[in-house]
Amino acid sequence: MAYIERARQKAEKLIGKRSALILAVESSCDETAVAVVRDGRKVLADRIASQVDIHALYGGVVPEIASRMHVEALSVLYDQALKEAGIGKTEIDAVAVTFGPGLVGALLTGVSFAKALAYGLDVPLIPVNHIEGHVSANFIAHPELEPPFVCLVASGGHSHIVKVNRYGSYELLGRTVDDAAGEAFDKVARVLELPYPGGPLLDKLAETGDDSRYRFPAMHTQGKYDFSFSGLKTAVINQAHTIRQTGGSIDAADWAASFRKAVVDALLNKAFMAVKDAGADKFALAGGVASNLLLRREAERRARAEGVKLYVPPARLCTDNAAMIGAAGFYRLMNGETADLTLNAEPSVKLIEEE
Ligand code: KG4
Ligand code: ZN
Repeated sequence: MAYIERARQKAEKLIGKRSALILAVESSCDETAVAVVRDGRKVLADRIASQVDIHALYGGVVPEIASRMHVEALSVLYDQALKEAGIGKTEIDAVAVTFGPGLVGALLTGVSFAKALAYGLDVPLIPVNHIEGHVSANFIAHPELEPPFVCLVASGGHSHIVKVNRYGSYELLGRTVDDAAGEAFDKVARVLELPYPGGPLLDKLAETGDDSRYRFPAMHTQGKYDFSFSGLKTAVINQAHTIRQTGGSIDAADWAASFRKAVVDALLNKAFMAVKDAGADKFALAGGVASNLLLRREAERRARAEGVKLYVPPARLCTDNAAMIGAAGFYRLMNGETADLTLNAEPSVKLIEEE
């Protein structure tokens, strides 16, 4: 019997038991990560090797360097993850991997590693969308959370409002039409000469600033729940240049606070409108920007005011990790969605067709 038939039979058995010990791999950008997750909810091991320090030298992610570093880190993290989980490789029921969206070379390293592992262990291979992984971080952080719920996914590459109707079934409510929220944070942070990725540092600086000091233009989009951060980002950066060129100086903390407030208000105004219109009583945050301190506080305040239950993962599960891929992978597996060994990296894959 060929690998794919054996893997399908094994997948059927796991679906019958509604249980699986999944080894998950993430390598879509500048974090290499391997995790071991039981039944989509319980993390037995969660190893991450960040490349941030190297890319910071260049002011952003250098794809070629990212791919090379993933190759170096993957097998080391795999050994560490098995050890941390206290399991032998034969106990792994299935291998889940991020196949997109992301940097093609970076994705390919994880996909190749996962394919070889699934084939070598003779277990099913589960393709996971990176955005879906971010949403699924909430299943780990909140074992009681079940669909349906609305989720705001804001990261360095994506900003989406999705409705999770069932496990693995998403409806796109809104998205950014240009820059992602994290990207805007990082580019604006550069003007303050904060090292890459500037988002978390700008957030910290903003904590000490006056957010009413500087005024920025409101966001305009056609789609009711869509975002556009490019105009705001450009206006903010131009304003700083103009002030500096005319001999003035900007107050970094006040400027960071005013910009952060503009982004957070934009994200939450749209997200809460979507929550209300969808008639949802649960709202979740996800993605790297979900560790933003103001976003977390404001989401909490608004959720309480609207009578909506808020779900927020801890910061470690907001930024890229493999535990979230293991969680998403479990529900893909339970839906019978496994891949064969022709699985390829898909750098621009969508979460939802109409995206
Ligand atoms: O989800 P993630 O780790 O990677 C992507 O899939 O893109 O998100 C990284 C992004 C970066 O742009 C980073 O600056 C941003 O999330 N970020 C933050 C904060 N922490 C991370 N942005 C604003 N405030 C933060 N505290
Ligand atoms: Zn991400």
